[in-house]
Amino acid sequence: MRSILLWLFMMLSCSVAHAAQSVGSPRLNYVLHCAGCHAMDGSGNSAPGIPNLRGSIGHFLKVEGGREYLAQVPGASQSPLSDQETADLLNWMLKEFSGKELPEYPKAYSADEVKQLRRRPPSDVPKRRTEVTDRLLREFGLDLRSYP
Ligand code: HEC
Repeated sequence: MRSILLWLFMMLSCSVAHAAQSVGSPRLNYVLHCAGCHAMDGSGNSAPGIPNLRGSIGHFLKVEGGREYLAQVPGASQSPLSDQETADLLNWMLKEFSGKELPEYPKAYSADEVKQLRRRPPSDVPKRRTEVTDRLLREFGLDLRSYP
């Protein structure tokens, strides 16, 4: 009997812990892991060269390599967040900061996709950004090359 009660207690505490963890995320995860650099509203910080995510990141999904780039920048790929939390966070950030710029019917990031992308981050992040922003300029006339 005691072991059943113990088992029930453990199951209950696991589900409470799980519920508590999912409350507030991904917004909470953004505040805890990203806002220190990217600012609470995603507007970045021009002094240390942190790009503005607002009105911008949605465009990256329109060209080849942009989708991968967003998940592979060090801030996103090297955070302590799980693959699922990172996927949820990226999906949330895209809508929250750049909903208007998203392509029609954007495909949401999945945990599995984030897992694959984290395995092979680009060695030269600024170079990858330049390739993607050059494509945005060529294909859409959008100039996101320098940080706003
Ligand atoms: C230590 C500061 C720092 C933290 C913390 C940080 N970032 Fe960044 N982030 C940057 C910098 C700098 C860039 C520009 C690309 C580069 O040089 O890495 C960037 C670029 C990005 C971009 C691409 C935007 C663009 O225009 O190039 C995304 C998306 C992003 N970060 C997501 C995140 C997420 C998600 C988190 C939190 C889990 C996070 N970042 C935490 C500094 C940071």
